[in-house]
Amino acid sequence: MISDSQRAMLAARPRTPQFGATEGLVKIGHYRRAMPVTMARMMENALDWEHLPTLHASSFSSIDLIDSGPWGWQAEAAVPSGSAEAPDRLQIIELLVDTQKHHWVTTILGGVAEGNQIHTQAVALGKDEIEVQVDFFVPDTGLTDEQSRQYGQVMSTIYAQLYDEDESMMARRQQEMQAWAAFRKSKDGREDALDLGPVEEVRAALPRIVPFNGGRFKLDWQDGAFVVFSVRCPHMLGPLDDEPVTDGVVACPWHGYAFDVASGACRDHPGLKLETPPTAVVEDGRLKLRASN
Ligand code: FES
Ligand SMILES: [Fe+2]
Repeated sequence: MISDSQRAMLAARPRTPQFGATEGLVKIGHYRRAMPVTMARMMENALDWEHLPTLHASSFSSIDLIDSGPWGWQAEAAVPSGSAEAPDRLQIIELLVDTQKHHWVTTILGGVAEGNQIHTQAVALGKDEIEVQVDFFVPDTGLTDEQSRQYGQVMSTIYAQLYDEDESMMARRQQEMQAWAAFRKSKDGREDALDLGPVEEVRAALPRIVPFNGGRFKLDWQDGAFVVFSVRCPHMLGPLDDEPVTDGVVACPWHGYAFDVASGACRDHPGLKLETPPTAVVEDGRLKLRASN
């Protein structure tokens, strides 16, 4: 929990990134990576503080937002200690973005690795491809060349994993947005019902994902009845397809929002709800999904 004086200090900081201004710092390494995603997805990802402890669970165990806006965000995050005995270590992180120049500066303002900065420039390589160029800086405390090189390698390894995870989220989200836009534009009408086959055969092959009227639904059997729920998270279209349902609740792997599969209600954000699923009905020994009105 940050103190009132820390909060006042954070509120007084400038809100524009000083990209390339690295006085008092030394560069310890560089990482670059091309990814098949649009610049819009990349900038959205930089501003998205909320995915850190869920998508990047091996690097962050929790995050509490302090402030955010179009300029970026400040948050208190916990970094796993790596040991069951030692408590997680806290960090105050600030990320300042220039959305026109496609660069951002991440600064550790308190806690573990205080003073470190990461300067990232994103460059469009094509309509659906970008490259991130990441420079790692630490306070100039007299590290030897060998210590700097090793520290830089550690940072590159961590960033390779973070971008593996980010790339999968950004690419998937982009694909979902395009698929949804294509369906809305298409002339295909909505189906009233979908025949899935003989009921016992369907039951023997559960769970399964069924595309229906532009949505994607999971069909399963629980407590003596068929259940059907949307596997497209209404927050940012995260995939619920492979997530376990525990006590009737499924959690999204991107930001961790939890949904009651029976009602679709979101436990974290009452305004969000899973898409209304079709209803599973048995007619003449066959299982059908019927569009809900
Ligand atoms: S996409 Fe954010 S919680 Fe699912
Ligand atoms: Fe990320």
